[in-house]
Amino acid sequence: MADQAGDPLFQSQDPIFDRKELLHVGHVPDEDRIVGRDDEIESVAAEIGAITRGDPPNNVMIYGKTGTGKSLISRHVATRAQNAARGNGIDCGVLYVDCSEANTETRTTRQLALSLKDGTDYRENIPVRGVGTMEYYQHIWAILEDCFDAVVVILDEIDKLDNSNILMQLSRAREARKTDAYIGVIGISNKVKYRETLDERIDSSFGHRELFFHPYDASQLREIMRNREDAFQPDVLADGTIELCAALAAKKHGDARKAIEILKEAGELARRTGSETVSEDHIKQAQEVAEINRIEELTSGATVHAKLALYALASHIITGERETYKTREIYQRYVGICDLVATDPITENGLYRQLKEQAFLGVIESEKTGGGRSQGSYLLHRLVTDPKHIVKAVRRDASLEELPTYDRLAETEPATGGRDTDLSSFD
Ligand SMILES: Nc1ncnc2c1ncn2[C@@H]1O[C@H](COP(=O)(O)OP(=O)(O)O)[C@@H](O)[C@H]1O
Ligand SMILES: [Mg+2]
Repeated sequence: MADQAGDPLFQSQDPIFDRKELLHVGHVPDEDRIVGRDDEIESVAAEIGAITRGDPPNNVMIYGKTGTGKSLISRHVATRAQNAARGNGIDCGVLYVDCSEANTETRTTRQLALSLKDGTDYRENIPVRGVGTMEYYQHIWAILEDCFDAVVVILDEIDKLDNSNILMQLSRAREARKTDAYIGVIGISNKVKYRETLDERIDSSFGHRELFFHPYDASQLREIMRNREDAFQPDVLADGTIELCAALAAKKHGDARKAIEILKEAGELARRTGSETVSEDHIKQAQEVAEINRIEELTSGATVHAKLALYALASHIITGERETYKTREIYQRYVGICDLVATDPITENGLYRQLKEQAFLGVIESEKTGGGRSQGSYLLHRLVTDPKHIVKAVRRDASLEELPTYDRLAETEPATGGRDTDLSSFD
């Protein structure tokens, strides 16, 4: 057998990428590669910083759209706090939980207990199965008591958690004499609206500050990508590629994750097509793929009716002359589509709720408009993205492959009539 290390099949150098890991989403860049977040870093540090001096920290909630650096900055500051604390002889742990995966209290506490135990000499066995939340809390308190003076707990995507009891448990732990260790919680959510539900669910014991991270502008995105240019082989990135990528990403969402993903995808495209450089064309194609993926991800949990409603709105925008449509207009086209795909339509009220959910997810924007004296107010919906991307993303759903093309949809329309949906009948 050939010596594997010397097998020519695996010897050729990647013509496009040199250090591709720099473009992975989970990659935490060095401090000097973090761009434009000095104020945010300082604000987070100000809230949890007391921990480094052996004093009680504040809890903090970070809000902001995806790709604004919330996860990165939280981890970065937590790690620096840990190091600073250690420098002062304080044993400080950092725990990170992605609540979109650990989406129940049991899963989250299990993960906290297991990661807390990791690297300590805590002897008790922590079962992965067959025990409940309370038992995991017991382990958490015991490990904290035995091995730590303080801990920073990052609960990322906290809105995905099915209840917020954990915030209460963590913030009351000292008061309830579960542990003497100081606990600082950094909660992160992409949804500003989570605040409202949070206010209702937790009491004042989770006293916390709120921080808002804003989308990046084109020049920040450019610098973020420039700092990772060495992911590519020298001279592979054609002039202007990064600028274009930054401009596209800034125009859409100011999302650094997406900008980096597009850059990576463009590299993959270049490699697949045997090109020696990554060109503006590769960027444009990659951007489209990324956008469709994003929509698909956002709508992955949506009902078939929500998807058909988005499809109806997209087809209106493509075939019509406006950017915004009323609930009633979307509903009528939706009913036509249901007929074509032999699906029973839900009620207009039901569809209205589905649209509201999509607005919450950020796929559409809905705006209330006064319709004049006798008409009442109604909602106007617009797509946040290119309607053709919605069409493609919805069509990827296996059960909807048979959807008619959008130009045929206008023909299926029942005659428009009746007053538009009055909001008051829905709220
Ligand atoms: N200020 C920044 N400087 C450098 N890279 C950044 C910056 N902000 C975000 N990134 C990178 O962009 C991606 C998305 O950031 P992330 O922190 O995951 O965003 P969020 O948690 O807000 O969705 C990550 O790969 C991250 O490393
Ligand atoms: Mg994140």
